[in-house]
Amino acid sequence: MFIRVLGSAAGGGFPQWNCNCPNCKGFRNGTVKATARTQSSIAVSDNGSDWVIVNASPDIRSQIMAFPEIQPAGQLRDTAIRAVVLTDAQLDHCSGLLFLREGCPLPVYCTNHVKEDLSTGFSLFPLLKSWQGGLQHKPIEPGERFVVTGLTELEWLPVPIKSNAPPYSSRRGSPQPGDNVGLLIHDKIKNTRLLYMPGLGEITAELLALCHQVDCLLIEGTFWTEDEMIVTGVGNKMAAEMGHLPISGENGLLNFLGTLHEKRKILIHINNTNPILNEESPEAEMLARSGIEVSFDGMQITL
Ligand code: MLT
Ligand code: MN
Ligand code: ZN
Repeated sequence: MFIRVLGSAAGGGFPQWNCNCPNCKGFRNGTVKATARTQSSIAVSDNGSDWVIVNASPDIRSQIMAFPEIQPAGQLRDTAIRAVVLTDAQLDHCSGLLFLREGCPLPVYCTNHVKEDLSTGFSLFPLLKSWQGGLQHKPIEPGERFVVTGLTELEWLPVPIKSNAPPYSSRRGSPQPGDNVGLLIHDKIKNTRLLYMPGLGEITAELLALCHQVDCLLIEGTFWTEDEMIVTGVGNKMAAEMGHLPISGENGLLNFLGTLHEKRKILIHINNTNPILNEESPEAEMLARSGIEVSFDGMQITL
């Protein structure tokens, strides 16, 4: 299985256009050693020729430009994108669908809850119907394995996870199963497994058991601390309210990932306020010492 990180930042990207937090400001004036990042998305393939986009970010156009393999240009209008799979209906994960309209009809694998948000609060499904039929919904549900047409080697399992529905959703604050899923992707020929969870609010016993079965975790890295948005002065929400589990702290991801030996552990969906973006920070050093990687745009993982 081939995985390409198209975008490693959380919503807003890094640096964020209107942000002067220490990271964004420091990156712009050259005092912080860091790498610019686009918004949350990965591409997955079983053969290197046919690709699935998992979460379509608003930066998708530049992400495709930076990834020539996904544009074979064999015909007048051509792409290697066979489908899009969504983990949730968050804007940073779905608004890129607008910019794939020239390639409709396009199969979109997502839960019925995600389809509902994308048919009401952010009505991409009805709107895009006017472009060659638009998005073709392929329903998926937590716990039910599925295969994406055209990528026969991969079997996908949507994993129920606790996070939150998008800010515009009628279920914000009271998320239901299906509002957020992780994706366990199994390469049946190579017998390798990736668990992709860009937004994760809580680690349950079921999830822990699953983590032990995979070769690589590509996991929530939004915030370093629970009150990061408040302390940096850019917002008024705690990480938990947003459905994100911070990296540090007693029950944070760092301690959890430390219990998983011999696996590749890679953070993704990193918010621009997160100190790990500063490559010379003590936080970045702490991760490196713990064997935890920080994903970057263009990162390639082969399993
Ligand atoms: C999130 O990850 O919590 C959302 O993308 C936030 C947002 O939509 O601004
Ligand atoms: Mn997000
Ligand atoms: Zn910032």
